[in-house]
Amino acid sequence: MIRICPSILNANFDDLPNEIGRIASVADLLHLDVMDGKFVPNFTFTPDRAIEIIEFASLPVDVHLMIEAADFNVLPYLESKAVSVTVHYEACASVGNILAAIRASGKRAALAIKPGTTLSEVMDYLGEIDMLLVMTVEPGFGGQKFMSEMMPKVRAARQWLSSNGLPDTWIQVDGGINEETIRQARQAGADTFVAGSVVFRADDPAGMVETLRHNAETNL
Ligand code: DX5
Ligand code: ZN
Repeated sequence: MIRICPSILNANFDDLPNEIGRIASVADLLHLDVMDGKFVPNFTFTPDRAIEIIEFASLPVDVHLMIEAADFNVLPYLESKAVSVTVHYEACASVGNILAAIRASGKRAALAIKPGTTLSEVMDYLGEIDMLLVMTVEPGFGGQKFMSEMMPKVRAARQWLSSNGLPDTWIQVDGGINEETIRQARQAGADTFVAGSVVFRADDPAGMVETLRHNAETNL
């Protein structure tokens, strides 16, 4: 199963209900990038604004927290109606505790790794998550180039999950996904795809979501 998650990072922030409405009927999840200007050199939303967006979104929200001290700052999201909460391995003091807290709140628990973080660093947690997010750009900005050198990491994660009886754990890729790079990521074993600028800079965002889905589905 393929999931396409449009990121609104490159959408018009002044008209989000309308922007979200353009992809709501064809997308699986809305990917919400929360950046604090500290963990990454960019700022998107305050927690209050992020929660507001999660509440008014017309589709389920996948929150990607690019915030420092995630252990303390995750709390408002656990009480929101987000369906999936992703924290960065690099931003957590106690990774196991935070993942358990996300699951205890009834949400899918996801762990993200930056390009410089290896799979072996997070191996201990692969059995405790619902989704691994392998960043395919340095987090912080939309519109960057896909790092195909991350594909061995995706492949190794998929192999480990399969051989450890965890075929249902999702692997998400985020950054530089377009009509072509989605094929590479799918071949490596990703099943959940974030796409920002390619969707919101398209004349027909919904059509682009369908194209991405088609290209991923026809590429095994
Ligand atoms: C980057 C964000 C991404 C971003 C992707 O730090 O996590 O979700 O929106 O944008 P594109 O698809 O343009 O690379
Ligand atoms: Zn993201």
